[in-house]
Amino acid sequence: MSMRRLFLPGTAAFLMFASATAAQAPPANAPAANLAQVMRGILFPSSNVIFAAQHDEFATVRPDADPSLSTDPIKSVYGGWEAVENASLALVEATRLITVPGRQCTSGKPVPLQDPDFVKFVADLRAAGLLAYKAAQSKDQDQILDAADKVGVACSHCHSMFREKLPEQGGEASRCTK
Ligand code: HEC
Repeated sequence: MSMRRLFLPGTAAFLMFASATAAQAPPANAPAANLAQVMRGILFPSSNVIFAAQHDEFATVRPDADPSLSTDPIKSVYGGWEAVENASLALVEATRLITVPGRQCTSGKPVPLQDPDFVKFVADLRAAGLLAYKAAQSKDQDQILDAADKVGVACSHCHSMFREKLPEQGGEASRCTK
């Protein structure tokens, strides 16, 4: 009993402190990156792997001297068409990261998750990524040409509406708005 009397007040104080901290801190899984950082970290390198598979040289790329340390997915242990498969799936999965609530753009504006055009462009990217995945699985150059084209179109459609802002449109501060 005496243990309990000694222990409880401390526990209560701890719980009060913990809940006050939780109220102020962002949720543990809050986005750490802005939208541009997700694009630079995942979409940019992954789509380059898909674009590279369009070229004739792709068939003759040799693995790096130590493929387990390669910074080029195509020359890594998971190289060649497998790298294209993984890059395609990275694009597909990245659409979930793009649409997670709470992420901001460099402009400080929230990612426009409610905007129907934005929603459509995300869906187009997902479809293009799935198409590229199928093309990579079948190791078919014609299919990858078509899929890579659709990936590029998906990127540029969204960018022309939500990223590329001329000074008279408010410049970079207007990114993620229409
Ligand atoms: C659904 C809309 C959308 C799609 C699809 C999209 N982007 Fe983006 N992208 C944006 C927006 C909006 C920004 C600006 C984000 C910011 O400023 O935080 C951006 C920024 C970027 C940036 C950073 C540019 C900078 O100024 O730093 C890169 C790189 C990029 N995108 C690459 C891609 C690639 C490659 C694809 C296709 C595989 C793609 N994006 C598809 C909306 C999109």
